[in-house]
Amino acid sequence: MSIESPAALADLNDPDVFVAGIPHETFAHWRATDPVHLTKHPEGHSYWSVTSYDEIVLASRDGSLFSNERGGVFMFEMEEEMLAQQNMLMLMMDPPRHTRYRLLVSRAFTPRNIRALEEYIDRTATEIVDNVVERGECDFVTDLAAELPLQVIAEMMGVPQQDRKLIFDWSNRMIGSEDPEFAQEEGDAEHAMAELFAYSHALVDERRANPREDIISALTQAEIEGDVLSELEIDLFFLLLAVAGNETTRNLTANGMHALFQNPDQLAKLRGDLSLMDSATEEMLRSSAPVMYFRRTASEDTVLGGKEIKAGDAVVLWYVSGNRDESHFDAPNEFRIDRSPNEHIAFGGRGPHFCLGANLARSEINKIFVEVLTRLDNLQLAGDVSRLRSNFINGIKHMPISFTPGKRIG
Ligand code: HEM
Repeated sequence: MSIESPAALADLNDPDVFVAGIPHETFAHWRATDPVHLTKHPEGHSYWSVTSYDEIVLASRDGSLFSNERGGVFMFEMEEEMLAQQNMLMLMMDPPRHTRYRLLVSRAFTPRNIRALEEYIDRTATEIVDNVVERGECDFVTDLAAELPLQVIAEMMGVPQQDRKLIFDWSNRMIGSEDPEFAQEEGDAEHAMAELFAYSHALVDERRANPREDIISALTQAEIEGDVLSELEIDLFFLLLAVAGNETTRNLTANGMHALFQNPDQLAKLRGDLSLMDSATEEMLRSSAPVMYFRRTASEDTVLGGKEIKAGDAVVLWYVSGNRDESHFDAPNEFRIDRSPNEHIAFGGRGPHFCLGANLARSEINKIFVEVLTRLDNLQLAGDVSRLRSNFINGIKHMPISFTPGKRIG
């Protein structure tokens, strides 16, 4: 790869660029020449593109200097009204407010509670593979990768089985708003959000009357400094968990399978030794992180990577680039399932917003791959892979696969 002069630098604002794949050459160019680089957004403002590992981690760790609250987490600028609403999501809050909200849901995600869910995750992974095993072919994304994260987060929140597909559809329409397959009309993402809120309202009312052991019941009883959460605050928790828990893990699973297809020696190695599954999971996260960036906004004048950042400047942390930083990873473009050490930043730069679902995601990824690799023999890519049109989520929409038909065991 020529770092000095890539044939043409990709426009990081353009979702079409990412349909073909992540522009790794462009990221390598910026890491080598200008790792905190001022980038023009088509809407007129500029933002700092941070592409080097160390600077991403520095900005992630300092939640007061690099704020989630001031400008949200996306590279575009939001209208005040929209920002005010998004600020009720804990992802868009700064400490100490953020800390209080995070505490309300963090209990559900402790390693102990995730371990308690393992039997459910195992059983569901078996059922998911049972549903395709006799067919000999399927769409890896919709039939295999999408199901487990959807079922697990819906189970944790207390959404009944018959309604779970609705969540899948709403989160697709919100995240895929720039992809023609998911967003049929202007404003569809907002419609999906309104439908999700209406659903969450009804569920909250039901759980207030009949509390159970689920996250929604816990939120109806939770208090922040003596105040109970408002209806809108609970809806926003519902939205954050539904989207954060679904799109990410599904796309990681699909990207990971794709990387195995592209590296048949690594696929064979993993099949031969499933004790490598934990380190393979970390390598999938490093090499194809599903969340490509999150943004911060400087709350004071500061310096990052030698650049003078002014209060109010947008700072975009490109995790997908940090994960390939040559100064942290040996041969970063190679996919090695036994890579060690592997301190990737797919779950963020280990700051206050570090992914709450990291342990859960790891457990889901591990279980679905073990099930797929042990039960679907002669696994092959059987057609074209279609990627999501987005410069935020690194996603695969469809990936046809074939395998030797087997027997159900559930
Ligand atoms: C492969 C799967 C996943 C990836 C790559 C991922 C990635 C991320 C990233 C990059 C962040 C922001 C970190 C930061 O700003 O420092 C984040 C935050 C978050 N993630 Fe995940 N995530 C995944 C799965 C999940 C799952 C399964 C859940 C559970 C429902 C979840 C819930 C959350 C929540 C609630 C936040 C916000 C935390 C906060 O603001 O304090 N994630 N995730």
